[in-house]
Amino acid sequence: MVPPQHLVKLLAGAWTLINQTNGADPTYPNVGRLFYTTSGQVSAHVVPTNPSWRPQSPIYGEPDSSTDAEWAIIGKRNLAYSGVFDMVVLDESEYDDGIVTHHLDIANVPSLVGKRYVRNFTIMEEGKVLRLRVKLTGQNNGTGLIFWRRLE
Ligand SMILES: *[C@@H]1O[C@H](CO)[C@@H](O)[C@H](O)[C@H]1NC(C)=O
Ligand SMILES: *[C@@H]1O[C@H](CO)[C@@H](O)[C@H](O)[C@H]1NC(C)=O
Repeated sequence: MVPPQHLVKLLAGAWTLINQTNGADPTYPNVGRLFYTTSGQVSAHVVPTNPSWRPQSPIYGEPDSSTDAEWAIIGKRNLAYSGVFDMVVLDESEYDDGIVTHHLDIANVPSLVGKRYVRNFTIMEEGKVLRLRVKLTGQNNGTGLIFWRRLE
């Protein structure tokens, strides 16, 4: 279901990652882009900047350009997916503005296909900053925050 346009417009556009507290390495912050369209599509890319996770030998489209070990380093750290999203708006009394759910239908990691990413969101600084709150699992139990700045 495509969410109502006036709500979608809060999120629609291109966002760039500025900060995250969900277990990321502060020395080498990830770079990322997040896109929402008014027709209900979402796409996200998150890439590390730590040089040891960015071997330069592998060339896309040339599987033999580097070792499987170097390719594996890339495979373990990069995230890219697309899908549709839906959202609900929370009551004024709630901490966040709403909850957006990404339904992943294309992903670089096969086990992500069919998964849902649920993020509480709040629009800040007159629409220029998007704060996502995510539930963490495993050792980072709790919630993490991911901040994005509007590019357009
Ligand atoms: C998102 O908001 C809902 C409603 O307030 C809340 O129940 C839920 O715990 C929140 N999720 C996170 C990750 O904070
Ligand atoms: C994470 O939280 C869940 C639910 O509160 C709990 O059952 C689990 O033991 C916690 N895991 C860790 C590693 O703290």
